[in-house]
Amino acid sequence: MWEKELDTVRLAAQEAGDIINSLYGRVDVIKKKGDIDLVTEADLQAESKIVEVITRAFPQDSLVTEEAGHYDHHSKRIWLIDPLDGTTNFTHAFPFFGISIALEIEKRVVVGAVYDPLRDEYFCAAEGTGAFLNGNRIKVSTIGKLEDSLLATGFPYEVYNDAHELTKRFEKMLTLTQGVRRPGSAALDLCYVAAGRVDGYWEERLFPWDTAAGSIIVKEAGGQVTDYTGKTYTPYSRTILATNGLIHAEMMEALKI
Ligand code: IPD
Ligand code: CA
Ligand code: CA
Repeated sequence: MWEKELDTVRLAAQEAGDIINSLYGRVDVIKKKGDIDLVTEADLQAESKIVEVITRAFPQDSLVTEEAGHYDHHSKRIWLIDPLDGTTNFTHAFPFFGISIALEIEKRVVVGAVYDPLRDEYFCAAEGTGAFLNGNRIKVSTIGKLEDSLLATGFPYEVYNDAHELTKRFEKMLTLTQGVRRPGSAALDLCYVAAGRVDGYWEERLFPWDTAAGSIIVKEAGGQVTDYTGKTYTPYSRTILATNGLIHAEMMEALKI
């Protein structure tokens, strides 16, 4: 049912990935959106390429992109695009970042793809199809207890304002699990939940383009995605909790501070 959409995101992610790989390793910060919120030539070039590919295939659809903003065609079909998720990693040549593209219809994510261009790992899912990594079906882990789990998380750019609350949750999870990683790309963190590489992930104050694609990939891999309080996730939720389902209740409890 979503074949044309899946083919289009694949092409867009591939072409954007080639651009990002060609610029990797060069310092090219061109703008600061905030004290530690950077934009590089790679973000901008990758975004134009993705917009070009999607608009060519679906000229009537609306798009929301991280760098340029809205291309509003009054459509219920909205593409949520983060051309480079993990820009801070990219600028330091720390090899963990991805491209995130999702299609949302009335707050329901129906297609999602996340591409790690350095590892050539392409994660995708559409509603009802299951989740895939390079064409192979992926599943969340079967770890049943928080104490046996490995988790991932991230921190918002305005970390300075309320670092205490963020580190309190981080500290709590550290003491309850086998470990917590802070890889630096929300989109890939979610795919790592989907692929069973981590068992759960939490983060707050993200944007729709950070989490939309990863959220459907987790769900289609058999996982659970809500906000911190267990409410249904939408790309507009201010907090996100994604797990293999088995440790969801325990993580929800632990996130209460
Ligand atoms: C960031 C990454 C990071 C998360 C930040 C995001 P960006 O996105 O996803 O992991 O912790 O909150 O803003 O700015 O690199 O696209
Ligand atoms: Ca992002
Ligand atoms: Ca980005």
